[in-house]
Amino acid sequence: MDSFLIRGGVPLHGEVAISGSKNAALPIMAAALLTDEPCVIRRVPDLSDTRFMAKILESLGATATFEDGTVSIHAKKVRGYADYELVRKMRGSICIAGPLLARLHKARVSLPGGCIIGARPINLHLKGFASLGAKIKIENGYVDASAKKLVGNSVFLGGRAGPTVLGTANVMMAATLSEGITVIESAACEPEVVDLAKFLNAMGAQISGAGSPTVTVTGVEKLHGAEHEVIPDRIEAATFLVAAGATNGEVTLKGARAEHLRAVADKLNEAGVAVERSGPDLIARRKGKLNASDITTLPYAGFPTDVQAQMMSLLTLAPGISIITERIFESRFMHVSELARLGADIEIEGPSAIVKGGKPLSGAPVMASDLRASAALVIAGLAAKGATQVNRIYHLDRGYEQMDIKLKKLGARIERGAGD
Ligand code: EPU
Repeated sequence: MDSFLIRGGVPLHGEVAISGSKNAALPIMAAALLTDEPCVIRRVPDLSDTRFMAKILESLGATATFEDGTVSIHAKKVRGYADYELVRKMRGSICIAGPLLARLHKARVSLPGGCIIGARPINLHLKGFASLGAKIKIENGYVDASAKKLVGNSVFLGGRAGPTVLGTANVMMAATLSEGITVIESAACEPEVVDLAKFLNAMGAQISGAGSPTVTVTGVEKLHGAEHEVIPDRIEAATFLVAAGATNGEVTLKGARAEHLRAVADKLNEAGVAVERSGPDLIARRKGKLNASDITTLPYAGFPTDVQAQMMSLLTLAPGISIITERIFESRFMHVSELARLGADIEIEGPSAIVKGGKPLSGAPVMASDLRASAALVIAGLAAKGATQVNRIYHLDRGYEQMDIKLKKLGARIERGAGD
């Protein structure tokens, strides 16, 4: 298994190009199942997760080819069965269920199961399919959804922790080919949902309101092939902004969208890292000393759960007490005990982590447990004195395109090698 060896203490300086968004690309790739015509999706990040989605589409009968960030998908004929071995490896693959149900009126998809960051239920996805008239049966670890026809309806998708991103994507996709009008209430407002709606509309769907809590889908008979360019990855961008602050450097992001990063920029500013626009670019630089800051993760446009771990690494360096509350996933604090190995002082109290910051970090071998936890450990390693080996980097490779190469260009001393 690959690892990163980081010799920390070097401020990051320079420019970094932000890749296409993983979490926008995955449902958009799945949406190509809705038509028997070819689709072309540009700016798809080359990651193990997007490669894996291509494999899933192939397993369903489509062709999917990757070339220089462009994925061409042709789902001329598809079958509606997705096996446990595929779905369990990537929770995001559940977003094939909506398109399969819409196109074939039946889908048999393995239940994804839990993962390290939380339970990851799909009850809201299923509630949405049922509202459109699908019969749902759960048997032998699989969800069977079938319908003679799907009929538009009013669907409330608010859950325990607020709206659901992939649930909204799934119901939106299922509704595109339904009869009549579907109104999704308490829809997720994330930019990735907006990007999916844009692609679906380019395919001939009639969706309005994406990006707001009420999304209206007027069903159409058929969708056609389309081309699309995926939005920049706001979580990758946020990760580089935090890394610039943590290393006391100055980094210019090329191609990030400031409007998708408001909550992150606001908290970074409070913590002592200025994030400024310079034409189309975004620049992050330390203003001086870091300050403690309290953070609560929330659905968009609140502070993203996907940046909680990275921000925690930064706040271990800020003198004083920061309280970080995780409201989206119940066990997304796996990075805490690994950060402690670098000298961080953090206690977990229910959904909150209390960070007593300001002590310098020192390098040590650490183990990545999930994608964003890996990014947090890399940031901590970049800020720490001495050498940090981050093991199990395959988690990071699921969602960050060439992170080691991009960091190297910014002056980081980072090497990929073999590890535990
Ligand atoms: N939830 C339910 N019922 C459902 C679905 C979700 O109770 O049917 C709960 C979840 O347990 C969680 C909350 O609702 O407490 C939000 O989960 P959501 O469904 O929004 O998460 P997701 O759509 O499965 C996507 C991203 C995650 C990101 C979350 C939240 C993709 C592929 N994944 O997951 O990304 O953390 O939204 O923003 O888009 C990552 O990239 O590292 C990652 C985990």
